[in-house]
Amino acid sequence: MYTGLQHLHSYLAYLVLIGLLISWLMAVAGLMGNKTYTAQNRKMSLLGLIPTHLQWVIGLVLYLVSPLGISNFSGAGMKDSTARLYFLEHPLMMILAVVFITIGYAKAKRQIGTTQGFKSIVIFYGLGLVLILSRLPWSAWLD
Ligand code: HEM
Ligand code: HEM
Repeated sequence: MYTGLQHLHSYLAYLVLIGLLISWLMAVAGLMGNKTYTAQNRKMSLLGLIPTHLQWVIGLVLYLVSPLGISNFSGAGMKDSTARLYFLEHPLMMILAVVFITIGYAKAKRQIGTTQGFKSIVIFYGLGLVLILSRLPWSAWLD
């Protein structure tokens, strides 16, 4: 199960980044154009939300079964920057990013019919995207 989840988490990461980027760029365009956030626009925001939610559930399970996850959590590990990234920084930062993205989606949903929805997506998805990019295990991923 571990290997399967590891691969799933690795491939789904592409969909997360692409989905968030498309949602964010569409929102930037809507904001710049001073457009009204519609039910159709909400569906574009789901493009970023759904892969992100799937990824965080898979990440949570992975954290429990991976030798790099909770089982590797230790004081000694704190001094090893690669180990610390996997058992602490990546999980914590990704959960924070998911919270921001979900807040952005939920706020925008309540702003359908106004111009404010795009702003919520631009700010919160943007924040989430930056947090994700800051704590991906880049070298292991793109290897
Ligand atoms: C939601 C956004 C997330 C993204 C984009 C993401 C992305 C990634 C990527 C690209 C890798 C490296 C995969 C590889 O080596 O090929 C990875 C590894 C890992 N992630 Fe995430 N992740 C996310 C959320 C989470 C969460 C919420 C947790 C745990 C609570 C988590 C736990 C882990 C663990 C434990 C590994 C190491 C797996 C191993 O190789 O044994 N991730 N993640
Ligand atoms: C397989 C995993 C998951 C998928 C595919 C998924 C998918 C979705 C979708 C499609 C929405 C948008 C609903 C809508 O407003 O139309 C959503 C919203 C949300 N999800 Fe998830 N989700 C998953 C897991 C989770 C988990 C585990 C949690 C929390 C523990 C969670 C918390 C939320 C919250 C708080 C919202 C925001 C609701 C709102 O609009 O106010 N999700 N998710």
